[in-house]
Amino acid sequence: MDYKNSATRKAAITGVGGFVPEDKLTNADLEKMVDTNDEWIVSRTGIKERRILKDPSKGTSFMAIKAAENLIQKKQVDPVSIDMLIVATITPDMPVAATAAYVASEIGATNAFAYDLQAACSGFLYAMSTASAMISSGRYQKVMVIGADKMSSIVNYSDRSTCIIFGDGAGAALFEATQNDFGWEDEYLRSDGSGRMFLNIKAGGSLYPTSEETFKNGLHNLYQDGKSVFKYAVSEMANATEEILKRNNIDSEKLDYLVLHQANKRILDAISRRINLPEEKIMKNIEYYGNTTAATLPLLLFDYESKLKPGDKLIFAAFGGGFTWGAAYLTWAY
Ligand code: UT7
Repeated sequence: MDYKNSATRKAAITGVGGFVPEDKLTNADLEKMVDTNDEWIVSRTGIKERRILKDPSKGTSFMAIKAAENLIQKKQVDPVSIDMLIVATITPDMPVAATAAYVASEIGATNAFAYDLQAACSGFLYAMSTASAMISSGRYQKVMVIGADKMSSIVNYSDRSTCIIFGDGAGAALFEATQNDFGWEDEYLRSDGSGRMFLNIKAGGSLYPTSEETFKNGLHNLYQDGKSVFKYAVSEMANATEEILKRNNIDSEKLDYLVLHQANKRILDAISRRINLPEEKIMKNIEYYGNTTAATLPLLLFDYESKLKPGDKLIFAAFGGGFTWGAAYLTWAY
C-alpha cells in the first residue's frame, strides 16, 4: 500500500513529556559490581551514568504515568479527551494485564482504549506509526504514545557485557491532526525473526514457561550477543535512514535532527559517518541515560523540545530485539 497516498489527513506530535528516576548508576558504581572500568565503558559505549528506578515496589507504569502527567500538565490536555493510549515496553508491570490500561486509568484517560506494544528498542517507533495511522484515517482525534522501560528489572548485574548499557526511563508524545501541515511524513519499518537468537529473554513465555530449571539457568534475564547486534544495528539503521532520506529528497544539509536509538555511542558515530551528517545534528542522551530501550526516542524529544521549531525535519531510526528496525520522517509542528 502506498502509505503517503492512503493518508487523508496528517498526524502531528503536539506535545511531549518525560521522566527519569532520580537514582544514578555511575561507571564507578559498576566497577564495584563487575570486572569493568570507567575507561572501558566510556570508550566502548559513550555511557557515563544511567538512571535506575530503585524502589522495588514500583514498575514501568510508575515512570509511564509520570511522563504522561508531565505532558498533560505542560500542554493542558484534558485526559478525558484522549481516545487511545499505547505503551511501548519490554518490561510491562506484569506479563498479563496491559500496563497501558493501568496507565490510562491512573492518568484519568477514562475514554481511551489502551494496549502494550512489544518491539524492544523499536517499540516507540512502531507505536508512532500506529498513532499516526489512527489519526490520519480520521478514526481517532488524540492518541498518546508512551515508551517506558524498567531495564534494571531484567538486566543481569553480573554480566558485564550487558549491565553497563541499560538504564530506566519513560517518555510520552501526543498525536493529533496537524494544524499547519507539519507532522508524520513517511516511514520504512522492517523486522526479521531470525535475529531473535541474538537478543532475548528466553524464559517466562510459552516456549520456556517459568520453572526451577529456567531460574537455575538464568533464562529470565536479558541475553545479548552484543557484537552481532552492533553489526546489524549499524547497517540496518543506516540503510533505513538512507532510504527515507532518498525518497523524500532530503540531504544532510536539509535534515535538522537524526533521532537515533541510543544503544552505543559508537553506533551513532558509525551512522553519522555513513550518511555524512555532522555530529551536532544527532540528538544524544546516551551519556547520561544509557540505553533506555523503548523510552530512548521520546526522551530525546523531551530533552531537545526547547530547541525544535515548526517545520524542522526529523528522521527517527531504531533497531532492537526481534530483530525489529526502521526509520521515519516527521516535520516538527510546534
Ligand atoms: O538496544 C538494543 C540493541 N543493542 C545494541 O545495539 C548493543 C550493541 N552492542 C554493543 O553496544 C557492544 O557490543 C557492547 C557494548 C555490548 C560490547 O562491546 P564490544 O566492543 O562489542 O565488546 P565485546 O563483547 O566484543 O568484548 C570485547 C572484550 C572482551 O574481552 P576479550 O574476550 O577480548 O578478552 C570482553 O570480555 O571486552 C570485554 N568486555 C569488557 N571489558 C571491560 C566486555 N564487557 C566489558 C566491560 N568491561 N564491561
